[in-house]
Amino acid sequence: MSIKFVPESASFHLTAKDTSYVISIVDDEKFVAHTYFGKKIPDENVNYLLRLGNYSLPSKNNRERVNFYSTFPQEFSTSGLGDFREPCLMVRDKNGNSCCSLNYRAHKIYAGKPKLEGLPCTFGSESECTTLELECEDSVLGLEITLLYTVFENLDVIARSVKVKNCSGDPIDLLRVLSACVDFDGAGYEMVTQHGAWARERHVQRRPVLYGKATVDSSLGKSGHEQNPFMALMAPGAGDENGEVFGFNFVYSGNFFMQAELSPIDLTRVVMGINPYDFSWRLEPGESFTAPEVVIVYSDKGLDKMTSTFHDLYRNHLIRGEYKDKKRPILINNWEATYFNFNTEKLIDIAKEASKSGIEMLVMDDGWFGKRNDDNSSLGDWFVNEEKLKGGLKYLVDEVNKLGMKFGIWVEPEMISPDSELYRKHPDWCLKTPGREPSLARNQLVLDYSRQDVRDYIYETMCSLLSSANIEYVKWDMNRPLTNMGSACLPKERQGELYHRHVLGLYEILEKLTEKFPHVLLEHCSGGGARFDPGMLYYSPQIWCSDDTDAIERLEIQKGTALVYPVSTMGAHVSDVPNHIVGRSASFDTRGIVALSGTFGYELDVTRIPKEDREKIPGQVEMYHKYNNLVRTGDYYRLTPLFKKLPYECWGFVAKDKSEALVTYVCIMGVPNIHSRRIRLKGLDENAFYRNEETGEVFSGAVLMNAGININVNHDFEAKLFHFAKV
Ligand code: DGJ
Repeated sequence: MSIKFVPESASFHLTAKDTSYVISIVDDEKFVAHTYFGKKIPDENVNYLLRLGNYSLPSKNNRERVNFYSTFPQEFSTSGLGDFREPCLMVRDKNGNSCCSLNYRAHKIYAGKPKLEGLPCTFGSESECTTLELECEDSVLGLEITLLYTVFENLDVIARSVKVKNCSGDPIDLLRVLSACVDFDGAGYEMVTQHGAWARERHVQRRPVLYGKATVDSSLGKSGHEQNPFMALMAPGAGDENGEVFGFNFVYSGNFFMQAELSPIDLTRVVMGINPYDFSWRLEPGESFTAPEVVIVYSDKGLDKMTSTFHDLYRNHLIRGEYKDKKRPILINNWEATYFNFNTEKLIDIAKEASKSGIEMLVMDDGWFGKRNDDNSSLGDWFVNEEKLKGGLKYLVDEVNKLGMKFGIWVEPEMISPDSELYRKHPDWCLKTPGREPSLARNQLVLDYSRQDVRDYIYETMCSLLSSANIEYVKWDMNRPLTNMGSACLPKERQGELYHRHVLGLYEILEKLTEKFPHVLLEHCSGGGARFDPGMLYYSPQIWCSDDTDAIERLEIQKGTALVYPVSTMGAHVSDVPNHIVGRSASFDTRGIVALSGTFGYELDVTRIPKEDREKIPGQVEMYHKYNNLVRTGDYYRLTPLFKKLPYECWGFVAKDKSEALVTYVCIMGVPNIHSRRIRLKGLDENAFYRNEETGEVFSGAVLMNAGININVNHDFEAKLFHFAKV
């Protein structure tokens, strides 16, 4: 068992691969202390780390109780008693008060990992995981607070979540229930986050954690373009390949809150969970609330090791379904090819031409339903627009299938257009507050997923759509944030539950649909990559990374995304030039090479691109089939520093058995009159020898990693792959 309770020190020792995490129960009141988190240690009593002399403890010195709370490293911080740092738990009780405390009562340790009801979470077998349930209470409130921890035996990962149960006889309103708090000793940490905007998602940012609080969050009702529910804390001196890094990722797709705080006495606290912004949850007597999971990764070798741990965790213990370990069909999507202007004939033309080059699936994007010819109407009317698709959906799908291609479809099921049959029939089915005109975005409103009738309707509608033809892929889009938070069905004391209920409703539908249609490949999307989070990855193995398909912009986006999320999850396509967003023209080869480090597909009118580009597609298809296993299943390495802007970008993939490696190099801006670039590879077997596939030259793994290869690719936007196979 890798979780152990040591009665002598009253402490729990959680051991994940090379990581230790220690929790201690202290004083007569059984406060729960966070004692240690870092590299594996053998000691069974490390309580000295808490610096709790007799003087500090309330049982010995009650006159300084506030002083105790304000410096004590609470394992799960509570509010109102003297800990002035960020609380994880805050309530409104029957008297209208908000104080709460957390005291140990009992515990359970067992093999395996429990599911979180209605929520996505990582999974692992009994031989892979051990779980601790730390049962705590606030006896004044009658609240039972269970802190859940699962350690992974073979990964430096600890997953946490929290369950709160009302054991009193009165309702209690939860004002915040975050999912995790970790107190670090000392100052000088740096915080790494992913920020962005539409078409510029997940750029990476690093900043010092200074006195005060630094927050990243979302109140958009989705994880968002702006910030991702990820944060890494880098210990002083840590870098790409060295030092301690603590990575946190919230397995949730709605409003989130992550904060790093440096207190005046140099304690660094990290908290995260559902954003308390406009959140409340009414717990009637006997009811429980479960907070979503946070996964915490420990690395003693910098950001590189953190990345590879997240990738392995998500590929093996989060993503589910048939495509989990499978190569995805190469698709061609008509969005950038036609936007709303298409019909059956046009789509079949694209499919015909695409099938000749080995493209395997046609995806019909937005504009096929209701009377949708632009983005002003019809969301909610999920029946085919017969004027555009003469012969109907089944006819089109059958024709595409006859060409030997699969067929996929775009939907946006969380939305409703005011100009739709659905809205005219059910004007109360969208989010809105009485007396106020709801704010439109892209001329659309959001369906109220807190309502069972709405969820049932959407589920049934999606089932009929997916059963109406041989649909083998779905792109599930979500193009606006949630606003006007009001539900016609919830009582006033429960309106604060709406943001979370939307996400729970979405998860419910996705769970049912993926169970009923296990063969359908699901790709999530949200105006590009505004909902790229581990919550969504539980339901779909891939997410559209960004509406920005320019190969050069994609370098930053894909590198930033891959800091946490596996390359196999990143939707990436070759699109037309000049690029629709930035007007840049990278070569067809470069566009292919960059999309290869993702799911790989096309997003262009293959009947209209230049002949010389079209003729390159079969070669790119071959490249995908040759390298996708390595890209999808291998270890990904950044071969340029994460935080340094260079005129080139380089990353690599190494097979798990170290038998081969692929290096992707892209020159962003050519620099005249320089030597070739020297790039050092990572992750090879230093004692093995590798042949450069192109030149036939043989090098030791040691020289490739310690000295590197010379790369002479120096024209703007030029890219090249280098493949090495063990001899
Ligand atoms: C936003 C997506 O990111 C695009 O790929 C496309 O599907 C449009 N929505 C369609 O409205």
